[in-house]
Amino acid sequence: MSKGRVLITERIHPVLRAKLENYGFDCTHIIETSQNEVLSLIAEYDGLVVRSGIKGNKSLMDAGERLKFIARAGSGMDLIDLVYAKEKGIVCLNSPEGNKDAVAEQAIGMLLSLLHHIARSDRQLRDGKWSRLENRGTELGGKTVGIIGYGNTGSAFAMRLLSFGVRILAYDKYRSDFGNYLIEEVDLEHLKQEADVISFHIPLNEETRHIIDAPFLKGLQQQPLLLNTSRGGIMNTVDVLWALNEGYLSGAGLDVFENERWDTLSESELGVIKGLQAHGRVVMTPHTAGVTFESFEKVGAILADKIIAWHSESEAETES
Ligand code: 3PG
Repeated sequence: MSKGRVLITERIHPVLRAKLENYGFDCTHIIETSQNEVLSLIAEYDGLVVRSGIKGNKSLMDAGERLKFIARAGSGMDLIDLVYAKEKGIVCLNSPEGNKDAVAEQAIGMLLSLLHHIARSDRQLRDGKWSRLENRGTELGGKTVGIIGYGNTGSAFAMRLLSFGVRILAYDKYRSDFGNYLIEEVDLEHLKQEADVISFHIPLNEETRHIIDAPFLKGLQQQPLLLNTSRGGIMNTVDVLWALNEGYLSGAGLDVFENERWDTLSESELGVIKGLQAHGRVVMTPHTAGVTFESFEKVGAILADKIIAWHSESEAETES
């Protein structure tokens, strides 16, 4: 007997469907879809699997009369209305364990690129400019790195940093006891005072939107490098550019942006992006940190296992 119907949307590794079907779900996978199409189909399904192209909003949940779960292949849950889902008894799952290593590696790559001017000197060489002095590097060893958000990706980043001989400070509003004596648990003020590098690994929600703004940036004491591989919405990009130009930040590695549809950037948004591009110590990538061949499979497999574990637990509860 079928365990229920699951609508899988977007580009998700086939391992997820294979695992769900093997367990007993009846799955439909539509890669190219739209919010409206999902809205028109959802009444027929017990579960929905998404990435970041479909919003798990109120209207979708209201249309999903028999919807029991929304599962996000990946980390960020910012496009799912978690409060409304809870009200409606719809379970929400995600699989940040699947792309934490990818994000952590790219954060290290961006940091080293900034410190050793790798991307900048590569651009200069392409333009025929050979400049060793201007591209003299700064070593990561001996520096203090502050991690804000010590969850899956924050801790994966910390583990990779350990081999560089850095001091690691970590602040997490919702977690203490990081389980590793090499990671110093500190409050935010302490981190702002001491860190030479600050890396954000927090979700986007109403509490964290624009958390990186002018007052925050003004409070930084070491002119740190800023790394943002989490969500563009946690930073006020105008303020980040201002802080770079005023010297509150000495550089930035940005993988995420407030508006990631670059074909729709307004005049003013474009001005800010151009300002960042013109800055010698800024490295930018198009939200690729979590996207690797390995993470593609891992986020799907881990999510399927979580859906199956949740379903078998709830079945066992109903039977007992
Ligand atoms: C995530 O939240 O898992 C990453 O940002 C990747 O998201 P994506 O599904 O849009 O690739």
